[in-house]
Amino acid sequence: MRGTNKPLIIGKDYKPTGTVPSIVLTNPRFAYNVGMVVRLASCYGIGQIWWTGDRVACDLKNKKKLPREERMKGYKDVQMIQFDRPLEQFQNVVPVAVELRPNSERLQDFIHPENAVYVFGPEDGSISSDVLSQCHRFLVIPVRHCLNLATAVATVLWDRAVKLNIGLSEPADYKMSSETRPEEIGLFNNV
Ligand SMILES: C[S@@+](CC[C@H](N)C(=O)[O-])C[C@H]1O[C@@H](n2cnc3c(N)ncnc32)[C@H](O)[C@@H]1O
Repeated sequence: MRGTNKPLIIGKDYKPTGTVPSIVLTNPRFAYNVGMVVRLASCYGIGQIWWTGDRVACDLKNKKKLPREERMKGYKDVQMIQFDRPLEQFQNVVPVAVELRPNSERLQDFIHPENAVYVFGPEDGSISSDVLSQCHRFLVIPVRHCLNLATAVATVLWDRAVKLNIGLSEPADYKMSSETRPEEIGLFNNV
């Protein structure tokens, strides 16, 4: 399934398919945030993006209309999985709730588990108590206001990459590409 750029939509009896590190977006509202997170995952070498809820869907019909060059561009290394109980699909991981909570660890002090699954809340809410109860660690980015969802993901991934010294590339290996909106590459639509 990896590398096809198609979403994997799985049922509850499907065998565990989670790989680490991974990112879970709970009930995201805006397609552009999900698309940006897929782009971030590709940048940092993260193989999976999971999301819950049905407010954002993959728009594969639109994708088929794109020129071949656009269809082939980037992101094919990221598996996109829409599933409502994502944490059940992992074994031996540390689910990290990224959320402003009273006892959250500050990002600058945080030691990232290698087998982390980072869980984020929706743009118009926060991580549900049910999902929070499944998380082992709690992490806050201590800034003055709530960050945009994709910006919060970017901040955590950069901090992880620098602290663990993984996922960074040499300047000679950078692949520059212009900004592409997710709907332009046919990945996601708001429902
Ligand atoms: C735009 S925020 C949600 C709105 C926020 N709950 C509020 O009341 O304004 C979307 C998600 O991004 C993450 N997030 C944003 N800013 C954050 C911060 N400073 N620290 C930790 N997580 C943050 C959280 O996962 C949050 O649920």
